[in-house]
Amino acid sequence: MSADIIDGKAFALALRGRIADQVTAFAAAAGRPPGLAVVLVGDDPASAVYVRSKGKAVKEAGMEGFEHRLPATVSQDDLLALVDALNADVNVDGILVQLPLPSHIDERAVTTRIDPDKDVDGFHPVNAGRLATGLEGFVPCTPLGCVMLLRDRLGDLTGLDAVVIGRSNIVGKPMAQLLIRESCTVTVAHSRTKDLSSIVCRADIVVAAVGRPEMIRGEWIKPGATVIDVGINRTEDGLVGDVDFAGAASVAGAITPVPGGVGPMTIAVLLRNTLLSAHRRAQIPYDRDAL
Ligand code: GUN
Repeated sequence: MSADIIDGKAFALALRGRIADQVTAFAAAAGRPPGLAVVLVGDDPASAVYVRSKGKAVKEAGMEGFEHRLPATVSQDDLLALVDALNADVNVDGILVQLPLPSHIDERAVTTRIDPDKDVDGFHPVNAGRLATGLEGFVPCTPLGCVMLLRDRLGDLTGLDAVVIGRSNIVGKPMAQLLIRESCTVTVAHSRTKDLSSIVCRADIVVAAVGRPEMIRGEWIKPGATVIDVGINRTEDGLVGDVDFAGAASVAGAITPVPGGVGPMTIAVLLRNTLLSAHRRAQIPYDRDAL
């Protein structure tokens, strides 16, 4: 193996420490801690695990958590009424409704009901539009975490060739927008792309977010490239990413492992977005460069 391993777990831990310091300063200035409301509908085990770790991280950062658990049978109207109440609650700076939702609920109706200025997931179309047009808003946590790791590793990303594999609203599309903002030359590929290997082999930066175990082969990677693997696939051999890790690690300059790469960044950035929201809503100046 020649690639350096990008330690997302350590980076996320350090970021969470800096956030906790700023939470203390915010609470002293505003007279209250930043507040994050997390809504879990039903009892999907994976979602329950995520929500528990978000709740723990919120507490460790010194923020106030508001957890709402609703039965899988809850009506869409009752869920929307809860979102309305959280939108109106002055102590709530961020609202996260854990996805996926039960099939009788229209996810889009719920994510668009959240006040865009409390949308710390960055899933509201208003925030997608703000990102695409260069306005201040909220950026989805996972792709922002990927850019933080890339900047930490590479510094200025200007002019680099980046390939994003995946076109989801949650990762692929915002990832492409963020890389454009960093002045990369961006190609968006996906599961239907023709001759994916010929596209990946040109890239200085490869971001894999396609949700297919080990689909991106090590032989495709340009020597020295930086590889960010967003995939988390449960297989018989355990958790694997979207990248053939062993193959890619023998040629890449640096690569994120699965687990311990991108995953821990998502919660850290969620805390960062909540802190940012709290400052904006309380009109307290915020030193973004400190994070
Ligand atoms: N389900 C899996 N990841 C996420 C996330 O980042 N936010 C929300 N709301 N739901 C998710």
